[in-house]
Amino acid sequence: MDGNGRWAQQQGKKRVFGHKSGVESVRSTVTTARKLGVKALTLFAFSSENWQRPEEEVSVLMELFMLVLNREVKRLHKNDIRFQVIGDVSRFSDKLQEKIRAAEQLTENNTGMVLSVAANYGGRWDIANAAKQLAAAVANQEMQLNDIDENALDRFTSLTNMPDLDLMIRTGGDHRISNFLLWQAAYAEFYFTDVLWPEFNEDEFIRAVDTFTQRERRFGKTGEQVKQQP
Ligand code: IPE
Ligand code: MG
Repeated sequence: MDGNGRWAQQQGKKRVFGHKSGVESVRSTVTTARKLGVKALTLFAFSSENWQRPEEEVSVLMELFMLVLNREVKRLHKNDIRFQVIGDVSRFSDKLQEKIRAAEQLTENNTGMVLSVAANYGGRWDIANAAKQLAAAVANQEMQLNDIDENALDRFTSLTNMPDLDLMIRTGGDHRISNFLLWQAAYAEFYFTDVLWPEFNEDEFIRAVDTFTQRERRFGKTGEQVKQQP
């Protein structure tokens, strides 16, 4: 979800105004995803590197996170959406951590869609964290060294048990992953748009999904092999 700051600045407003407007895009994206039958939606809200931003901006982002949790969780629950936060939440305030836990608990049995919000998240952190847990399992003799393979590591990553990542959308004009779902993106389709996040609405989302449906996904095979598959 990139481009909040620039969107605000284009209108002569402060960057934080863009973050506030971006909340509306989050709302519409969640609603549209649910409507389209998307099974899992993961939003990159705050990276491990975003702490380096000016203090005022970081604190507005934290307040917004809190506000949105308070305001929207009931609606998520009503729409059968399971909510979870991925990332190292231990750096957030106790109050925020408490809210996150409550929202996760309330919605844990919902099956319509999984909404994961990546907060204090980094793709490298995710992989390193999984490696650490694997090492612990071997050290405790719950696992053997030879049990370590891609599936074993995957089980300790933050989106384990989720469907494979099909489509990664980045708004705001930059063409990079910025340490988002590195492990999970192995076979994802990428969609980059210049649209700034506050302007990313239902039409834009559907445009991205339409593009995705036209891609030929070969997963290492040839085009002919893929076409022959039932
Ligand atoms: C929003 O966009 C994403 C967050 C990190 C919360 P930005 O704040 O990165 O906006 P730009 O890229 O400066 O326009
Ligand atoms: Mg940015």
